[in-house]
Amino acid sequence: MTLTAPRPDSRIRDGRLDPEVIRRDFPILATESHGHPLVFLDSASTSQKPLAVIEAVDTYYREYNANVHRGIYEIGERSTAAYEAARSAVARFINAPDAHEVVFTRNATEAINLVAYAWGRKNINRGDAIVLTEMEHHANLVPWQLLAQERDGDLEFIPITDDGVLRQDVYDVLLRLKPKLVAFTHVSNTLGTINPVVEMTKMAHDAGALVLIDGAQAVPHVPVDVQAIGADFYAFSGHKMLGPTGSGALWARRELLEAMPPFMAGGDMIRDVHLRRSEWNDIPWKFEAGTPDIAAAIGLGVAADYLRELGMERVRDHEQELLTYALIELMREHPDLELYGRMDATIRCGVIPFNVPGVHPHDVAQVLDRSGVAVRAGHHCTMPLHERLELDATARASFNVYTTKADVDALVAGISEVKRIFG
Ligand code: ALA
Repeated sequence: MTLTAPRPDSRIRDGRLDPEVIRRDFPILATESHGHPLVFLDSASTSQKPLAVIEAVDTYYREYNANVHRGIYEIGERSTAAYEAARSAVARFINAPDAHEVVFTRNATEAINLVAYAWGRKNINRGDAIVLTEMEHHANLVPWQLLAQERDGDLEFIPITDDGVLRQDVYDVLLRLKPKLVAFTHVSNTLGTINPVVEMTKMAHDAGALVLIDGAQAVPHVPVDVQAIGADFYAFSGHKMLGPTGSGALWARRELLEAMPPFMAGGDMIRDVHLRRSEWNDIPWKFEAGTPDIAAAIGLGVAADYLRELGMERVRDHEQELLTYALIELMREHPDLELYGRMDATIRCGVIPFNVPGVHPHDVAQVLDRSGVAVRAGHHCTMPLHERLELDATARASFNVYTTKADVDALVAGISEVKRIFG
């Protein structure tokens, strides 16, 4: 089937997103799964991609595939220009003051590892504390475990309440340890909790700590302004914000990036190489060794522009409305369903972890799948959070700009089917 993208202005109606129109940008949403229309409720794992992104990647490979920062020929120059324009688009999207403060990475995981290696191994010494939280994705936990083990550092954790909100009173106490770094997620990938990043950053800075924010689950759903947040490092994936897999970025303040040694070494990250020593390139290229994923970066730039055109305030409003609808419908139709996280859409993104009593979440996901409904089941890369909530696993439904009330209705109906089958 050939799809034509809708007129740009039709995606917004009366100041609100029209997901029925937006869906027409996403070819995969017109496909079927097990003979049913695909109901994709696993956007927290990875989002679907609009035609504009797919076509940008396709055009790169068809028309100007060439390495960046190397070829003095037409398509090489075109490729370099598109790659650097994508960096500017990403910088605009997060309101970075300078596009050179945006380093392209494969994903948020690589961006956090970059900081843990390049900044961490230079700045964390015996006994230095790093404050994390109990709700971190493994990507913002394991790199710090490795660093703490290697440098004899100390990890401390902000606990959560039973309904999945960070205990700010304990955070306040932990800051008295004078940590070197506080690293926390902007939005929980499992509970959807939106953390008060501005306040938490200010508290950390007042205590003399630097701040790293894992924005992987925030950039697709809430307006992100790195200058307003005031953090030092902001890491995120591109593939959850409608961009290609293999795209992501680290934003960091210029003086931090300039003071950090390289993370990986090889071509493009150098200015001058001799047999026994080398000098590094300027930022951000100092951190982009080897041929980057050029097509993915270009696609990410297009995704950033697509979301900016929709307007991130409108994206947030859409998801808030949908989350409220989903929570009410789920509780009304399935009062026995176990739901986790705070039942308050004003501090929560469109993420719903749940359990059907007596049914393993993998079985729940499998039955849902048979009616075309895709949800994730497992620990969602947050084993310590599940341990804290005394859960082995959960099923999780998650939304994006193209999610509709009909998708939520399909989930609600699918859960009835799960109950019917498992009695
Ligand atoms: N981090 C992704 C998720 O939460 C993979 O599902």
